[in-house]
This record gives sequence, structure tokens and C-alpha cells, in this order.
Amino acid sequence: MRVLGIAGSPRRGGNTDLLLNEVMRGAASRGAETKIIILNDLKITPCQHCDGCQETGRCVIEDDMRMIYRELKQADRIVLASPVQFMGVTAPMKAMIDRCQALWVSKYQLNLPPLGNQRPRKGLFIAVGGQRAANMFEPALATVKVIFRVLDITYAGGLLFSGIDKKGAISKRPELLHQAFTSGQQLITDLSSEKQNY
Ligand SMILES: Cc1cc2nc3c(=O)[nH]c(=O)nc-3n(C[C@H](O)[C@H](O)[C@H](O)COP(=O)(O)O)c2cc1C
Repeated sequence: MRVLGIAGSPRRGGNTDLLLNEVMRGAASRGAETKIIILNDLKITPCQHCDGCQETGRCVIEDDMRMIYRELKQADRIVLASPVQFMGVTAPMKAMIDRCQALWVSKYQLNLPPLGNQRPRKGLFIAVGGQRAANMFEPALATVKVIFRVLDITYAGGLLFSGIDKKGAISKRPELLHQAFTSGQQLITDLSSEKQNY
């Protein structure tokens, strides 16, 4: 069982990174194989809407997104982590999501499974924001729910924490880090119970 974590913050060791690490530690403690991809270290060209994927469901741009398509296909659980930036996910995360347009074409125009196989997948969303405002996670969450739906990934829930701004501020909230750890464990527990059903 593979858990793929995708880190969307440009700030290494920041709040979402720390939460993502805890989720992955929780998953690993239940025997999962974990991998974290740091989007800010990669070259992911924004979708050019060139329609190069229309016939094949395969993006024609040659960059690090190739590796991410592979990793998504191999994963049983996908954890997206992004701080809120101007109400949305970060630019690297949005670029990665937009490049999944090729997989949208696969699914809705070519009638193929978007990730090439039908294994049951679940996804978790980690987000933090500096503000404390009503509905502040809704725009980012809407984007994440859409990409999960397109990729046939069941939304398993979110760790959405407001009022977290300075680098490392989440470290002063051990109860939230613990919640992240147990969420990682829960993601894997769900998989075991699914295996009994399939
Ligand atoms: C460009 C930029 C835009 C931001 N926009 C928002 C925002 O719209 N709402 C909010 O609550 N926080 C906003 N923030 C604050 C970050 O979400 C916050 O500092 C967060 O803790 C950063 O997480 P990280 O350490 O994982 O990068 C913004 C920060 C930056 C740099």
C-alpha cells in the first residue's frame, strides 16, 4: 500500500510540510510505503491548453509531471498539502492540478480510467491559512475536491487549520500535529477494511 504525499508550499519545513510529515509518519506506522513529492523543487509547466492530449489522454509536455502521473497511478492514498494563498492552493499545486487535464480527457472523452487502473483510492487535503475567516478554505477545498473526483479518488477528509501563519507556528500546536498523525493511521486503516470488501 502506497501513500503519496504532494507538498505544495514553497516554504520548506513550513506548516503544511510539518503536517504532511506527521500524516506520513502515521501511515508508515501502520505499514504503508510512503513518498513525498515537493512540487516547488520540480519543473511543472502550466497547462498550455494546446489540446495535445485530446487524442490520447497523454500530455505532450515533457517535464517532471511525467513522474507525477506515474506516482499517482501507483498510489493507493494521495495526500495533497498546500497553504492557502490568496484563497486558493499555491501556484505549484495549481499547476500540477491543471496538468491533470490530460487525465480529465482520458476519463470524460476517451472513457478510460483516469489513472489507468481502478484500484480504490482515497485522498486527504492538508491546508493552513494565516487568517481566521469564515469559509476561508472553501475555494481551495473546491479545487481539491474536483481533482479528486476527476481522478476517482474518494475525498477522505481535510486537516484545515486557520490562524497558522509564521513558519513553524504549527509546532506550537501539538494537538494538531497529533491529529495529523492519527489521520495518517486512519487512511491506512480504511484501506484494510476495504480490502475485506473487495
Ligand atoms: C502569497 C501568499 C498569499 C497568502 N494568502 C493567504 C490567504 O489568502 N489566506 C490566509 O489565510 N493566509 C494566506 N497566506 C498565509 C499562509 O497561508 C500562511 O503563512 C501559512 O502558514 C503558510 O504555510 P506554509 O508554512 O506551509 O507555507 C498567504 C501567504 C502568502 C505567502
